[in-house]
Amino acid sequence: MKTGTFQDYLLAKQSVDDRALNKDVLAALKAHLPPAPVSIVEVGAGIGTMLVRLLRWEILSDAEYLLIDEMAENVAFGMAFVAKWAQENGFSVLSVGADTLHLSNPSHSITAKFIHADMFDFISSRPSPADLLIAHAVLDLLPLPESLPGLFSLTKDLAWLTINFDGASILKPAIHPVLDRRIERLYHETMDRRPGGGDSQSGRNLFAYLDHVGADILEAGSSDWVVYPRRGKYTADEAAFLEYILRFFEESLTAQPDLDAKKFSRWLHTRRDQIAQGELVYIAHQLDFLVGV
Ligand SMILES: C[S@@+](CC[C@H](N)C(=O)[O-])C[C@H]1O[C@@H](n2cnc3c(N)ncnc32)[C@H](O)[C@@H]1O
Repeated sequence: MKTGTFQDYLLAKQSVDDRALNKDVLAALKAHLPPAPVSIVEVGAGIGTMLVRLLRWEILSDAEYLLIDEMAENVAFGMAFVAKWAQENGFSVLSVGADTLHLSNPSHSITAKFIHADMFDFISSRPSPADLLIAHAVLDLLPLPESLPGLFSLTKDLAWLTINFDGASILKPAIHPVLDRRIERLYHETMDRRPGGGDSQSGRNLFAYLDHVGADILEAGSSDWVVYPRRGKYTADEAAFLEYILRFFEESLTAQPDLDAKKFSRWLHTRRDQIAQGELVYIAHQLDFLVGV
């Protein structure tokens, strides 16, 4: 199977994230949200799948939602994706200027503004704080803990920090236990060496980082990605999701001097065969937090 764009990856990731998001942390989020209308800022919002999820899950009815992302392709794709989803799900959709959508039906009024910006530039513009900050599948790409104070300036008092990678990428069945472990270790090391920041153990480290900046953990729990075939078939787009995960391994570890190129290429080939045969199980350990700041 050929993989597509980063936006296709974010689409394929939706059902995996739906299952993974920690439901105790989600219940705490619902309990702590102020009465509508709520203002929300999401950093690293990608193509807007979290906004759609919160609407699908009936968590938002009346909201002002800012989506910040540094990739122009995400922002353009995201506006079209959110508008199409809303139209197909009974919302009236009105474009307000070039970057804002108003989604409404008798029980909902949502203003979604898509901002193409680096989140740190956005923070420097000193916007008014929102009721809720969301950072989903993004904190583990940032320099931590030094990014936290700026991020928390975006919220009055509540942040939902989800899908923070935490040091385990499990692929089954085993190919060769020693090689499997070596590839996992080297892959995690590439996360720790990303030039823009990143931490392959961000989940567990966030306990101390949050304490250090004086944030209160209101709820925390695991949000592992668990992708597996059911009677030899993957649900939704999850075979494609697994292909993207292997592509990330390939992009990160090709030309890695500590890895024999032929063995790695055979390893990737066998893993892709396992997807095609409906055999591959993938588990990534991650943690979610709801914090008061
Ligand atoms: C792994 S993706 C997750 C996207 C989205 N939250 C989701 O789960 O579908 C991380 C996103 O963060 C964005 N990002 C990373 N660093 C950023 C920065 N400094 N400012 C704004 N966006 C950033 C990337 O462009 C990317 O869309």
